[in-house]
Amino acid sequence: MPRKHEWDILKLLKWTTSYFKSLQIDSPRMTAEVLLAHCLKTERIDLYLDHDQPLSESELSKFKALIKRRAKREPVAHVVGSKEFWSMDFEVTKDVLIPRPDTECIVEASLSVLTASDFPRRVLELGTGSGAIVAALSSERPHNLFFASDNSLPAVQLAKKNAGQNALADLIHFFCADWLTALNPRTSPFDIIVSNPPYIPTPVIASLAPEIRKYEPLIALDGGHDGLAAIRLLIGHAHLWLKKNGYLLLEIGHDQKNRVKQIMDDTLHYEDIKFIKDYAGHHRVVQAKKP
Ligand SMILES: C[S@@+](CC[C@H](N)C(=O)[O-])C[C@H]1O[C@@H](n2cnc3c(N)ncnc32)[C@H](O)[C@@H]1O
Repeated sequence: MPRKHEWDILKLLKWTTSYFKSLQIDSPRMTAEVLLAHCLKTERIDLYLDHDQPLSESELSKFKALIKRRAKREPVAHVVGSKEFWSMDFEVTKDVLIPRPDTECIVEASLSVLTASDFPRRVLELGTGSGAIVAALSSERPHNLFFASDNSLPAVQLAKKNAGQNALADLIHFFCADWLTALNPRTSPFDIIVSNPPYIPTPVIASLAPEIRKYEPLIALDGGHDGLAAIRLLIGHAHLWLKKNGYLLLEIGHDQKNRVKQIMDDTLHYEDIKFIKDYAGHHRVVQAKKP
C-alpha cells in the first residue's frame, strides 16, 4: 500500500477496485469511482481529469469510511444517499426500496396508456416508496392528477421530499394508507392505478444478497408465502376503484406471469390482459383494462 502522501485519485481507484474485487463486490471499479466522486463532491468523469490529484487527510478518512460501509455490504445507494431513476435523483434511506432499473418498464407501460387527452386523468400509485414511479409519470405527463400512497409514513415523507427536490411537489398528492382502504371507490375512481408491490416469496428472502436482505425494508420485499399476496389483493380490489376503461398496471416477479394471468382471469373483472417484458426479456408488468 502506498504511503499516505502518495495517495492520488488513480492509485486510490486501483487499490479500492482490487479490495472490492477481493470481497466479490459487484462492479468493483464503478463502485470505487462512485464512492470517490461522492467523497470529493465531483462527477465520475472528473476523477480522470484530475487523476494525479492527491487527497487531503480529511478526504482520505472520509473515503475510508465509505469503503468500510460498502465492504459491509451496505448498498452504494445508501452509502451515497441517493439513486438515479428516470434521469432524476431520489434520496433513499433504509425506509424505502432503492428504485430499480427494471421498474422503468412499468413507467413506460403507464406512459403508453396515459397518452395525450383533453381531460386530466386521475392516476394513483400504491406503495410509492421513494416516489420514483409517480415522479417519473408526473414529470412526463404533468397535465394529469397524481395521487400516491404507502402504508409506511417515513416512506410517504421521503417520497414527498423527493417530489419537491425534483420540482414535482405541486403535481402529486401523497397520503399514508394500507393499499386502497383510505379511498371511497364511489367518490374517488381512477383512470390508472399503478403499483410495484412486494412480490418476493417469504422463503426466498433469506437467500437474497446481503445488500437487499440486510438493508432494504422487509415490507417492501415480502409478498407472502408464494410472493403473490399483495398482487392477489390488488387485482381483487383495484377494479372497484377504476373508472370504466381504466387501467391497472402491476410490476411482477420474473417468473410470476402464468400465476398472475390465472388470478386476473379468475376475477372476471378485467379484459385486454397484457404482459410486458423488461430489457432482460422477463415478463415484468401486467396491464389490464376494466371493461
Ligand atoms: C417493492 S416496493 C416499491 C417501491 C417503489 N414504488 C418502487 O417501485 O421503487 C413496495 C412498496 O409497497 C409498500 N407497501 C407494502 N405493504 C403495503 C400496504 N399494505 N399498503 C400500502 N403500501 C404497502 C412498501 O412500503 C413499499 O414502499
